[in-house]
Amino acid sequence: MVEKEISQAVISRLPRYFRYLGELKDEGIERVSSQELSDIMQVTASQIRQDLNNFGGFGQQGYGYNVEFLYEEIGKILGLDRKHNLIIIGAGNLGQALVNYVDFERRGFLFKGVFDINPALYGKKIRGIEVQCMEHMNQFVRDNNIDIAVLTVPKTEAAEIAERLISYGIKGIWNFAHVDLKVPEGIQVENVHLSDSLMKLSYNISRFQKDM
Ligand code: NAI
Repeated sequence: MVEKEISQAVISRLPRYFRYLGELKDEGIERVSSQELSDIMQVTASQIRQDLNNFGGFGQQGYGYNVEFLYEEIGKILGLDRKHNLIIIGAGNLGQALVNYVDFERRGFLFKGVFDINPALYGKKIRGIEVQCMEHMNQFVRDNNIDIAVLTVPKTEAAEIAERLISYGIKGIWNFAHVDLKVPEGIQVENVHLSDSLMKLSYNISRFQKDM
């Protein structure tokens, strides 16, 4: 696989390529040109060629891209050719909604455990997964080969929980708490702030109204 350093901007576009190629594959389409991909995705064909060239191109002059091959290769680059075992910490509104969303599993992200500090939730089943107390988390992470932890706890709790998870061997944190986590090198954090996207939408609405 490619060792070259890929910019985060390119990485952040790969899931979108993967999604569109998956749709083409499901429609039985075998090949696609960068121009056709460009039309569907609203990204310039040259941007697409440039992005994919980071990984050796995959395209052939006059043929375009083989959809299935490109889909598989981008999947590998994104680490989707293997399963990831996840736990969620915080079984509140958001934590439960994420566990209930089955589509993550299609991509190989498997929710294995849910943890919370509230005893009233212990034993409650969310899509068949029992909420456990925090004291069980350490052993559970070690026994179940957990590599990703999802944080859906209040922001005041997130840093301390992240530190504990890292000491248990967690390599990736999908953080929904509104706080920037400081983690040691080698640990990956992806912060998700749905409100950022909403604010961008709000900005664009306001700008459009001013222009009218
Ligand atoms: P919630 O109050 O319904 O759930 C939080 C859960 O965390 C509760 O079950 C609580 O018992 C548990 N908890 C609290 N302290 C804990 C600890 N030390 N250890 C383990 N569990 C603990 O809240 P909701 O609505 O599910 O939101 C969860 C978090 O996600 C909040 O920080 C909220 O601000 C954030 N959020 C972030 C969004 C985003 O786009 N990033 C969107 C919505 C919420």
